[in-house]
Amino acid sequence: MLCLTLTGSHASECIEQFREYRNLIHLVEIRLDLLSDPDRDEVAQLCQSIDVPIILTCRRKQDGGAWEQGEKLRTALLLTCLELGVSYIDLEEDYKRQELEQRARELSVNIIRSYHDTRKVPEDMFARLVKLSKRGDIAKIAVTPQSITDTHILFNVERELADMPNKIVIGMGEWGIPTRILYKRTGSLFTYCSPEGTSAASGHLSAKTMAELYRADRVTQATQIFGVVGNPVMHTSSPMIHNPAFHQSGLDAIYVPFLVDNVRSFFKLAERLPVTGFSVTVPHKQQVLPFLGRISREVKLIGSCNTVVRKGSLWKGLNTDFYGFLQPIQAELEAGTIRKAVVIGAGGAARSVVWALRNYRCKVVILNRTAQKARKLAEETNSQWDEISAAANQEHVDLIVQTTSVGMEPNDQLNPVPDFPFSGREIAYELVYKPQRTAFIQAAEQAGCRVVYGMQMLLAQGKLQFESFTGLSYPQEPTDSTS
Ligand code: ATR
Repeated sequence: MLCLTLTGSHASECIEQFREYRNLIHLVEIRLDLLSDPDRDEVAQLCQSIDVPIILTCRRKQDGGAWEQGEKLRTALLLTCLELGVSYIDLEEDYKRQELEQRARELSVNIIRSYHDTRKVPEDMFARLVKLSKRGDIAKIAVTPQSITDTHILFNVERELADMPNKIVIGMGEWGIPTRILYKRTGSLFTYCSPEGTSAASGHLSAKTMAELYRADRVTQATQIFGVVGNPVMHTSSPMIHNPAFHQSGLDAIYVPFLVDNVRSFFKLAERLPVTGFSVTVPHKQQVLPFLGRISREVKLIGSCNTVVRKGSLWKGLNTDFYGFLQPIQAELEAGTIRKAVVIGAGGAARSVVWALRNYRCKVVILNRTAQKARKLAEETNSQWDEISAAANQEHVDLIVQTTSVGMEPNDQLNPVPDFPFSGREIAYELVYKPQRTAFIQAAEQAGCRVVYGMQMLLAQGKLQFESFTGLSYPQEPTDSTS
């Protein structure tokens, strides 16, 4: 079940939010602390407009809410609103006033007994959950993982406390996002989400994202889990490439972003969940290598892996950046019209690009801010290299590929090679995909060049990844939500 937390500051705003998302959600949480001046009439008006079960909550500031007006007033408000036909009331672990609890039981309102930690995952988390559930209430724990190891601990709840039926386990913040999407794999009854453009708690995803992109509700024990590991990771468009394609192909599978600080710890979680395959992004494309039982020819060549799939008891590493990069310029490469290429950057992405071009025997010049890195890659790939400032001196270039992160949002106005003398006959290939028209692309377009956008490569490598994950072709229907 998906629970929409209403974030409006007035009943009218909350009613509008509810109506907009009514078809996507199953429960609503009224947060009295988010209403600007809550009283019985306003909450009654709200309750009358909502035809799904309601959770009544008034969250204190110290627990991540906005309530600062003291316990006496909070109890009075909750007591009054309890009578308005709500199904659940959320009471914190340390809430001691008996009258509210007693009245809730008289009215057969379910009590969610909650514990919050906005800084960490407490060491005694399992014991706390057991304590919270003691009186037959729904035990809810909302804690803040600070690493992928912490996230793993939250997923252990399902197994460790399998005989506790009524529980909600939430990892707040970015580390906790997999626990929100895969809430059923933590053994949780439901997961919370917010209206688009608002966020009731750190790490809340929107109702649309939860219901339409991730279909979090459809996850069962049989659902295959895929994902992307990176740091940062929430900016990636890969969930928009894979989730709609799983759906269109009729597969029971989900693709989830995992913020990962330690690759070894992620592999442990991947065994535990289990994860069937995953994409790898910055900065882990090399760090995953020691954990792979098999690698493809391209991974061996490039020393970088962006796709990992489970093969029996082993993890196999692939590199779809290599072929994904080539796809948009395949015709020119096969026709032999790309003889000289300039590659800006010498990082992980540049490695795949240079190796792929060298595979087609293109002459490659690598230009990088740090000359030493350009030189190293040039030596490995039998290419030429120079400092990035030498961009101004390049001649007879058929292809220029921009592989650095320069120009990525929010620094859209930056171009790593503002002096490059575009003649108009080069193909300008950008790897940055947000924004679509980077400063580099704009300069190339002004000169009349054919351009290849970062999104084209992202999609091409993603489609190949999908094939490695599923053994199926990527479905025809376009996934325009990636733009
Ligand atoms: P990726 O896997 O995306 O390539 P990376 O391996 O960290 O990421 O490489 C980043 C590339 O962007 C490098 O070539 C880096 O240049 P340095 O080797 O000099 O660090 C380049 N880069 C990042 N920020 C840059 C900047 N402000 N100006 C120029 N180049 C930059």
